[in-house]
Amino acid sequence: MSETARLIFDDKEFEIPIIVGSEEERGLDISKLRSATGLVTLDEGFVNTASTSSSITYLEGQQGVLRYRGYPIEQLANDADFVEVTYLLMFGELPTNAELREAQAEIRRGRNIPQGVADLIASFPSHAHPMAMVAAAVVALSDYYTDTLDPFAADDITRASQRLLSQLSTIAAYAYRRSMGKAFIPPTDNLDYCHNFLHMLFGEAGETEFDVDPVLSEALDMLLIVHADHEQNCSTSTVRVVGSSDANIYASIAGGICALWGPLHGGANEAVVNMLEQIQGDNNDVDKYVDMAKDKSNHFRLMGFGHRVYKSYDPRARIVKAACDRVLDKLDIDDPLLEIAKKLEKVATTDEYFLARNLYPNVDFFSGVLYRAIGIPSNMFTVMFALGRLPGWLSHWIEMRNSPNKRIARPRQIYTGATTRKFVPLDDR
Ligand code: CMC
Repeated sequence: MSETARLIFDDKEFEIPIIVGSEEERGLDISKLRSATGLVTLDEGFVNTASTSSSITYLEGQQGVLRYRGYPIEQLANDADFVEVTYLLMFGELPTNAELREAQAEIRRGRNIPQGVADLIASFPSHAHPMAMVAAAVVALSDYYTDTLDPFAADDITRASQRLLSQLSTIAAYAYRRSMGKAFIPPTDNLDYCHNFLHMLFGEAGETEFDVDPVLSEALDMLLIVHADHEQNCSTSTVRVVGSSDANIYASIAGGICALWGPLHGGANEAVVNMLEQIQGDNNDVDKYVDMAKDKSNHFRLMGFGHRVYKSYDPRARIVKAACDRVLDKLDIDDPLLEIAKKLEKVATTDEYFLARNLYPNVDFFSGVLYRAIGIPSNMFTVMFALGRLPGWLSHWIEMRNSPNKRIARPRQIYTGATTRKFVPLDDR
């Protein structure tokens, strides 16, 4: 017999079913609560609320576990490539050789973006943030691919997802080139995902050869993998919420990109490097910034620290930190920001304030140091996060569309404003 919880309210007893996940996670199913009791639940920031059930990604915060479709992130980051992981997230299984080749070819085929979207990016002022350009360009795709907008048509969804997977890297690279005041470098058919992306970022117009140090393209590929999904985070939830209104997939993904931009979410990677540079310019005074983060009268936080779900070391941060050491060592790069980051990590992971609150480095803490080694400037870091997260967003959007329980996301509230009052005409106020 399935388990239930009992709620006693107004002298009546109500049975609340318990839902059990495949990893034995348990949750109260309150879908009938309001109709049965007249009560709603209040959970600011959704700290205790599961917004959906999902079979894509498993995250356990006490031990620091992250698995995509059952596969540990450590194995995927080490042994798979980004297109393989994209396939896994989208279709639920690792691809065979033939399936992977076809997925790679599909991504290569559709990389050119519509001229109007390139013109839109070019029309932004050169000081524009690349995230603004990327969000605008993604929603603009909906007007160029009007034959892929029906959220009820499986074929439209497949083609729209493929277009996004092919074109987001071109859009991202063009946004970077615009912000640098440089001409766009179109995609190259015969290059793999990361090599092509780095060529579009750093190549010269008209060149036919572009050499990339494999150490850097492998590091980039790994960064995309560790960002590829993270269950119901702020941007993924946004993608689902926008899509729940039957908005098209491009609009939904653009919503996710905007949510990611915030410094508490994906924007933290840019904020971390800004913070490390600030510390560097302040005589490397790490203690001063740790004290500021602990001071409740100061809104400053140690960026790249803490997580809603992880109450231990973020497994992605562990992977990225090890890669930083490896890559910087191989390329003989001495980045003083990595040293400051490690000092900060040491202080914060031994300090009572951080220990008591379980605040450990998260994925954004070390990623910026690696992006810098690749040559990617800090205003592009959150765009890189978006590029990695795209397969996760798409997989969640599709899972939401296919769910028999899909309804428009429309939370309730507890109203705390004025009760009814009589309108006072302007002259009498
Ligand atoms: N520095 C100093 N204090 C912190 C920090 C921090 N980075 N993060 C949390 N705290 C404190 C917070 O002040 C609170 O203290 P108290 O209990 O005394 O009031 C306690 O820790 C709990 O924090 P919270 O804000 O209630 O936790 P949350 O789950 O709502 O927020 C977070 C999670 C990630 C937004 C937050 O830890 C934070 O702002 N971190 C810095 C930004 C950051 O690195 N974001 C990237 C997250 S990982 C990538 C992603 O998935 O987007």
